[in-house]
Amino acid sequence: MTGPAHILVTGATGAVGSTVMRALQATGRHVHGVGRRSGMANHSAWYAGRQDPPPELRRSWDAIVHCAADTRWNLPDDEAMQANVAPLRAILSLADSATQFIHLSSSFATGLHGDVVVSAREAYRNSYEWSKAAAERCVRAERDGADIVRFPLIIGSRTDGALDRYSGFFWVLAALCSGAVPALVAREDGLLDMVSTDDVAQHVVSLLDSGTSQGHRLSVLGRGADAQSVKQAFDTILDALNSWRTDNDVAPLERPPYITPQQWNRFYLPFIEEWLDRVQLTRVAAFRGYQDYLSIAEPFDVTTQVPDTRATLRRSVLRWAETHADAARRTPKPWSARQGRGNSGGRR
Ligand SMILES: NC(=O)c1ccc[n+]([C@@H]2O[C@H](COP(=O)([O-])OP(=O)(O)OC[C@H]3O[C@@H](n4cnc5c(N)ncnc54)[C@H](OP(=O)(O)O)[C@@H]3O)[C@@H](O)[C@H]2O)c1
Repeated sequence: MTGPAHILVTGATGAVGSTVMRALQATGRHVHGVGRRSGMANHSAWYAGRQDPPPELRRSWDAIVHCAADTRWNLPDDEAMQANVAPLRAILSLADSATQFIHLSSSFATGLHGDVVVSAREAYRNSYEWSKAAAERCVRAERDGADIVRFPLIIGSRTDGALDRYSGFFWVLAALCSGAVPALVAREDGLLDMVSTDDVAQHVVSLLDSGTSQGHRLSVLGRGADAQSVKQAFDTILDALNSWRTDNDVAPLERPPYITPQQWNRFYLPFIEEWLDRVQLTRVAAFRGYQDYLSIAEPFDVTTQVPDTRATLRRSVLRWAETHADAARRTPKPWSARQGRGNSGGRR
């Protein structure tokens, strides 16, 4: 075994933290996990940022891998800061100057200007990006040395597509199966960069193997300019869903049409809005946050290019369908004006 012996992993019950835990345990290191709720052995339930740390965490750590976060895009600004910066400060207080501190961030923390240095809220697409950028600035301000690891959308394990927790993006799969979205509001040629949880875990292991950094070391994982286009990714997703549906005697899904965000926001939505019922309007609002991420033209400037992700995406979708069979076998309800009851003033 090389590298640190006693390692604290926060967010250990989450999609990324659980994979990081397993990868570190496989190297023979002593790993202790933290989450808000209780988890497996060698795990402490601690609501960081709201509670004092439990006694077992107040010890000297050779390394801390900070994976805990609230990844929701739609939290009010103050709640996002409370969810992503306050816990970080509490976890930083457990590190001493010899602790190797590895902070997991997001490629999207660079917001609309491609950098985390701007603190203005308008420079970010949503409160999640804004709070993740603030967290990076906090790590740099509080630590002389630290690793910051950014990565884009997370998909499952490279071997079998498994993911310990499904969040954000996987809602799109359920939406495709239920017909919750009438069209893909996206740029077909946009880049949809993604990495496997295994890629992040392997990178964390390699950072620990290489030892504490002098100063701040930034890694950006992803495919960069070789990322799948939105069209390629959705072709893979639909092919995988339809292969699962065929094997389970469910009619295949039709390919929804692509509409650019400009067309949708300027032309379609203003005209159909008054015909949509409350449920449809809620879905439209929920899907609004995805438009930005399905319309990215500029590749991320990666420092570590991960292997091709197409087969992993297919495995992840198949695995999602296996574990969410009720959602995966739904029949999409078509959207029509007749379905909407209207919401404009006076229309009842
Ligand atoms: N998911 C993605 O697509 C993606 C993409 C880019 C970057 N990232 C980054 O990767 C990291 C891990 O994300 P993830 O997808 O694994 O998140 P996740 O699946 O939602 O898991 C979040 C984890 O953080 C814990 N947690 C949250 N707030 C906490 C607090 N105040 N105190 C203690 N534990 C807390 C949760 O504990 P409980 O389970 O007990 O609630 C859970 O273990 C985050 O930094 C995220 O920003 C994620």
